[in-house]
Amino acid sequence: MKKIIRLVAALLLFASFAVHAQTIPIETKNNALVLHVNSDGYLSMVYFGKKLADKNEYQHIPATQNLDEGNLYSSAYTTAGTRNVLEPAIAVTHADGNKSLELKYVDQSFSKLSDDVSQTNIHLKDPVYAVEVTLHYKVYAAEDVIEQWSEISNLEKKEITLNKYASANLYLQAKNFYLKQYHGEWAKEMRPEEEKLTHGIKTLDSKLGSRADLLQPPSFIVSIDKPASEDDGEVLIGNLEWSGNYRIDLEVDPNDNLRLIAGINNYASDYKLAAGAIFETPKLVYTLSHQGKGEASRNLQEWARKYQLVDGEGPRLTLLNNWESTFFSFDEQKLSEILKDTKKLGVDLFLLDDGWFANKYPRNDDHAGLGDWQVNKAKLPDGVGFLVKEAENNSVKFGIWVEPEMVNPKSELYENHPDWVVKQPKRGDYMMRNQLVLDLSNPKVQDFVFGVIDELFTKNPNLAYIKWDCNSVIYNAYSAYEKDQSNFYVDYVKGLYKVMDRMRQKYPKVPMMLCSGGGGRVDYAALHYFTEYWPSDNTEPRERIFIQWEYSYLYPALASSNHVTNWGKEPLKYRVDVAMMGKLGFDIVVGKLSPDDLLFSQQAVKNYKDFSEAIWHGKQYRLQSPWDNDVAAIVYVDSLKSRAIVFNYLVSQRFDAGSHAPVKLKGLDPAKQYIVKEINLYPGTKSGIKEGTYSGDFLMTVGINPEVHDDRASVVLSVEERK
Ligand code: DGJ
Repeated sequence: MKKIIRLVAALLLFASFAVHAQTIPIETKNNALVLHVNSDGYLSMVYFGKKLADKNEYQHIPATQNLDEGNLYSSAYTTAGTRNVLEPAIAVTHADGNKSLELKYVDQSFSKLSDDVSQTNIHLKDPVYAVEVTLHYKVYAAEDVIEQWSEISNLEKKEITLNKYASANLYLQAKNFYLKQYHGEWAKEMRPEEEKLTHGIKTLDSKLGSRADLLQPPSFIVSIDKPASEDDGEVLIGNLEWSGNYRIDLEVDPNDNLRLIAGINNYASDYKLAAGAIFETPKLVYTLSHQGKGEASRNLQEWARKYQLVDGEGPRLTLLNNWESTFFSFDEQKLSEILKDTKKLGVDLFLLDDGWFANKYPRNDDHAGLGDWQVNKAKLPDGVGFLVKEAENNSVKFGIWVEPEMVNPKSELYENHPDWVVKQPKRGDYMMRNQLVLDLSNPKVQDFVFGVIDELFTKNPNLAYIKWDCNSVIYNAYSAYEKDQSNFYVDYVKGLYKVMDRMRQKYPKVPMMLCSGGGGRVDYAALHYFTEYWPSDNTEPRERIFIQWEYSYLYPALASSNHVTNWGKEPLKYRVDVAMMGKLGFDIVVGKLSPDDLLFSQQAVKNYKDFSEAIWHGKQYRLQSPWDNDVAAIVYVDSLKSRAIVFNYLVSQRFDAGSHAPVKLKGLDPAKQYIVKEINLYPGTKSGIKEGTYSGDFLMTVGINPEVHDDRASVVLSVEERK
């Protein structure tokens, strides 16, 4: 009898996993990512490239390939502890201590979410242990973008541990792979490096906790076969939507193919998952182009504006910020003057920066006050409300700086809630910028942080803008709240998103700048809550050209807050022209501008507003890179191809550096006639270019010389269709 029962059980088990081999194509407008289930039920990724005209032909792909036996290397979600011996995407310790996992295909579902968006879900299951995984592929067809993530379900009777839990596991087949990655530090964001990947694993990662992207952002640009140029070559651009520790492994396998595994960093994070719970990983967003990095970046920019940024298809506010003009030292009178200057300059909003809060330990420098979000009575006796009113009187809007996740030990918040702070109980403090990080894994801290923002809006309903800063990484990672410290890094970020979700539910559209002492936290998860980001504290304009240039491979121009400051020695025109290639702002003392500088700035703001449609929502084409040209050039073309704006900047200081040849434009209609003019001319100067009417064909084939030289170091051109 026992034998029969065992036989029936074995048959049932076999029946539940006896699957038909099949291919699962996931198509975008131009591409297909093809998965394959073999007759043993293992899922692998067999193709990612141009899509085929006939869908039925995808099934022939697996037979054409030189894959390893059992398709282990090409697994669509590589497990650990069984047959696989390469880097896993998932590793689990079961409730009984066993560390093995196998995942086999169960079923799939598909849903069409709109004309453009659809989702394929593939359900996998371990035949032995009660652990299941669903792989999600969300397709944005027109943009050629895919978001991929997974859900891990613990159906065991007790807690299990997730030792690794990647979002995506891609497999690319080609001869060679080239990785362009970024590194940075404060004021040195987005420095690129490109190299050929060799066998073994190249890891991009962060262990910084908060502002996790300070040293390296979670982005990659992988060229396939040969290094892609701006308009040529196959290239994959990706970004992990996660604002904490991440890990992206790029492994050239024994078959010379590329395994790319991206997700939360499992460093110090063996995540405890309760019985019955589901762990949802963050999303990896990526796009594949066959026409170089330019098209790939435009795909991502388009997707971000449509689906990811707050109000990505809406307008942006030009502004005057007071950080570099006053630092912590201001009062009502000084700010009232600045509010008048805001109007004089012609921008939309005044942004009050750090230093407006705390009384017992006033925020007069960066050693005290963080955490005590009550208005400082000595500086602002009439409160924030007075400034909002004063802004209204000047017909401008008012915005304010906050850094609600942080605390100075010298604060009432720290005195009252030492257990809300991330720090080791038995060790001394170690700080970045004299501050510590609040423990956002604790729901009470989440309430507090949400409360800071909520109170500002409740008391000042006309508050029009927030700059949300974050200036410290996490040292001495320890939470007094967490039962298990291994969950802390992950729960910290999830706690942050809970706060952001609440905030966006209540205040869905208020413009907010994502700042992190510069670009320490720019990723597509954070940007889901923000309208824009602060690329770097480094606003020296030549430096900024390089920084803004590189961010543009990942993010759209309307999200890049570019402020004109006094950094560097370049004339005001150069600084303004550079800031105009994104979201324009100022952080200067308007009252100290010469009459010509003021006149120039006022006219530039008008020109910016005039061309903002092209800059914010048009297509961006990088024309000449600052890395290998004397003159960097970039153009923004509106969706009707009727208006464009071209920015040209001298970046070399060598003798006779300049534009010795025409710059070829891109993205215009060859058949249209365009009037080309120089704009943003400094008072008293004349255009140095051959203004006139040219066909789009001419401008794109022969080009136009912006006549950039050391006495004309930046030149802005308007290109308007002659109707
Ligand atoms: C760091 C930011 O990057 C600056 O713009 C400024 O807001 C300071 N923090 C204020 O402390």
